[in-house]
Amino acid sequence: MTKIKNITILGSGNLGSRIGLQAAISGYEVIFYDLNDAAFIRAADVFQKVLKHLTKHNLVKSEDHDSILSRISFTSDAAEAVQDADLISESVTEELTIKQKVWEQFGKVSPDKTIFTTNTSYLLPSQLAEISGRPEKFCAFHFHDVFTARVVDIMPHAGTDPTLIPLLEDLGRKLNQVPVIIKQESPGYVFNFMLMALIGAAGQLKTKNIADIEAIDKSWMVNFNTPLGPFGILDNIGLDTAWHVVHGRADKASVAFSALLKTYIDQGKLGEKTGEGFYKYPNPEYRQSHFMK
Ligand SMILES: NC(=O)c1ccc[n+]([C@@H]2O[C@H](COP(=O)([O-])OP(=O)(O)OC[C@H]3O[C@@H](n4cnc5c(N)ncnc54)[C@H](O)[C@@H]3O)[C@@H](O)[C@H]2O)c1
Repeated sequence: MTKIKNITILGSGNLGSRIGLQAAISGYEVIFYDLNDAAFIRAADVFQKVLKHLTKHNLVKSEDHDSILSRISFTSDAAEAVQDADLISESVTEELTIKQKVWEQFGKVSPDKTIFTTNTSYLLPSQLAEISGRPEKFCAFHFHDVFTARVVDIMPHAGTDPTLIPLLEDLGRKLNQVPVIIKQESPGYVFNFMLMALIGAAGQLKTKNIADIEAIDKSWMVNFNTPLGPFGILDNIGLDTAWHVVHGRADKASVAFSALLKTYIDQGKLGEKTGEGFYKYPNPEYRQSHFMK
């Protein structure tokens, strides 16, 4: 198997930008691919914010910022993005048809050595592996937040070459993550499966008008002494990403929750990344001292 040196990130949004930054911090050469420059500008902004935060907490030295950033480049040319890729980490929009198109495209232009990984939250690697033309080299390698939530899920499909698992486990650790191996394909891996139950319940409490968003979050945060409740978590994930996960589901609760998310999305309120979702950023109400009283 390939020794990994060069990593290509497909999709430079919320998660892609963070995975790629961590890879550059860990010493890998990273090239970002997206459809347009606007995504790269937003990604560069994420790099600055995250590096500042990591330096404040003594996790990265300020004198290392330049060398970290020098390992990062951007392109919207697909062939250039993968010309020397040892591994692709795909973080494009959570929509099956979009991901299938991307994997069909990159399966054709990637060198033989390239390992294919997807960061999908709820789709299955078997839904993408065949179309990539390289099912044996295809595996889900799923990050959470990368810097504060550091689990990386490794979920093969039935046709994944088993030697890929220890390689991804090793890479996960080099990327400062804690690898969790999933034995059988399952939507949402382990953590997201449990998280979905929490968010689904919070959605029902709100859409059935049983409690307000703040009351629901407060109840979770105070009892678990944790900095985020379910709606704060949704702001962090991105309401659009959450909508992509639930909008196809036919059950009554998902339909109501999807409609709730849509009212925010239609106003451009996608969460922390746009400055407003259920809360306003950078100083959301749940971080004010009065909130927990
Ligand atoms: N947001 C989270 O907390 C989170 C956590 C773990 C995993 N994920 C997963 O990561 C993936 C990305 O989610 P996100 O929140 O970063 O979304 P995002 O909307 O922030 O970013 C998606 C990016 O993909 C790009 N894109 C769309 N179509 C493309 C194409 N054909 N070619 C190249 N780029 C394309 C978009 O321009 C955008 O920049 C999803 O699969 C999601 O489920 C998200």
